[in-house]
Amino acid sequence: MEQTSAWRNPLRNPKDKRLPRIAGPSGMVIFGVTGDLARKKLLPAIYDLANRGLLPAGFTLVGYGRRDWDKAQFGEYVKEAVQQRARTKFNEHVWQHLAQGIEFVEGAFDDAGFDHLSARLQELDTARGTGGNWAYYLSVPPEFFSNICHQLERVGMAASDEEAWRRVIIEKPFGHDQKSAHELNEIVNAVFPESSVFRIDHYLGKETVQNIMALRFANQIFEPMWNAHYIDHVQITMAEDIGLGGRAGYYDGIGAARDVIQNHLLQLLALVAMEEPSSFEPAALQAEKIKVLRATHPMHPLGKTTARGQYSAGWQGSQYVKGLREEEGFDPESTTETYAACTLEVNSRRWGGVPFYLRTGKRLGRRVTEIALVFKAAPHQPLDGGQTDDLGQNAVVIRVQPDEGVTMRFGSKVPGSTMEVRDVNMDFAYAQAFNEESPEAYERLILDALLDESSLFPTNEEVELSWEILDPIIEYWAKSGQPEKYAAGTWGPESADKMLRRRGHTWRRP
Ligand code: BG6
Repeated sequence: MEQTSAWRNPLRNPKDKRLPRIAGPSGMVIFGVTGDLARKKLLPAIYDLANRGLLPAGFTLVGYGRRDWDKAQFGEYVKEAVQQRARTKFNEHVWQHLAQGIEFVEGAFDDAGFDHLSARLQELDTARGTGGNWAYYLSVPPEFFSNICHQLERVGMAASDEEAWRRVIIEKPFGHDQKSAHELNEIVNAVFPESSVFRIDHYLGKETVQNIMALRFANQIFEPMWNAHYIDHVQITMAEDIGLGGRAGYYDGIGAARDVIQNHLLQLLALVAMEEPSSFEPAALQAEKIKVLRATHPMHPLGKTTARGQYSAGWQGSQYVKGLREEEGFDPESTTETYAACTLEVNSRRWGGVPFYLRTGKRLGRRVTEIALVFKAAPHQPLDGGQTDDLGQNAVVIRVQPDEGVTMRFGSKVPGSTMEVRDVNMDFAYAQAFNEESPEAYERLILDALLDESSLFPTNEEVELSWEILDPIIEYWAKSGQPEKYAAGTWGPESADKMLRRRGHTWRRP
């Protein structure tokens, strides 16, 4: 099970940053390889890793599914996905090398299919030198997790041993509430020990999200003010301009809160609010996130501290777009929310009394994800009211995407013969500060899973705690009728603005 190549966890061993982290002999089986995620993210990420020289020479990618594809047909499918979506330039030589190890095994999630799969993986272990080290990527709806895990166990392909490792990588949604997540965890953990389970939250693979840890703990200037003494409130925004056309099967009945608040936004909250871990060992980091998630609860009453909406037709830029209920495949009476906002509190000495506002929505004004820590006013203002009329609240804004960086917002004297103070921004932009391009989140996470590096993967406990935070809100909404309508291209329902106004706050217009 030892990694054969020289590698180090870059979170733990910064001095080893010059050593490339190259995966040892291994292969990956993707279940759900014809799905959108595989085509748009996983297959391109695998190619990008190969192109960067980070996969072992005999890396083998096996697609498993019901298509009657042969190696060449699957190869074509992968190639197309790579050419359309890979981050790095297409290189025929790299592709030819990778393609030699691309295989398709036809089968259903039944006995015969898995017998066949197991036999083929064993042949490949010899032919390609994968050494029995397999990562199984479950890019399928959760109802299939049980069957796949049990079948892998039955054919003896799930257990790791002295010589070979077996890991499972699981895509969200991980359940639809705390109870179902717990049941799924039991099913998966009955077959794969927790140390072999890698639950994907692709936000943790983003450079700007990992940078939250660097920003907070590698520097001296931020941490002293990173608490309730100085911070008035925190706004975590994940706004998207895209609609939900083509995603009805997954999204209708799921909604924005389950889709991204339970995972991405609560992980962002955990990283922003947690205490400094004793190290960046996975267990130490996860322990801090668990502690903070345990202390996090919705503020009440939910009718005033939450908001939800559904987009109706409207102008998105210069394009007139449909409302959710007119999107193909959605129930014309759908009550699924496409916008969700909530107010959470973190009951700890550091954060007592500071509201954490989380919001996400589809078909909003523009695509932007950011975390804004908004400061209290200075305890005493020596300047006259009139001189500071244009001074807002100071803020540190972590710009997760698309314009990656960090902004500090504060007041500055307007040049001239009077004393007038106005807000200005001081910016750090990745694009200007670094020459390196950021890898895609999936590149980082797939490589980490192959290297048995689990720092950036939420544990079973984190997933369940996140559901526990969200469950009461979703239950409350289920009893509260229709979500409020908002026109596509706007910044969401009026109730979301009201939710903040009640506390004397306003959403940032990023
Ligand atoms: C996914 C959600 O997890 O994240 C999607 O299911 C969402 O609804 C996507 O569009 C956004 O990811 P990113 O990386 O583009 O911000």
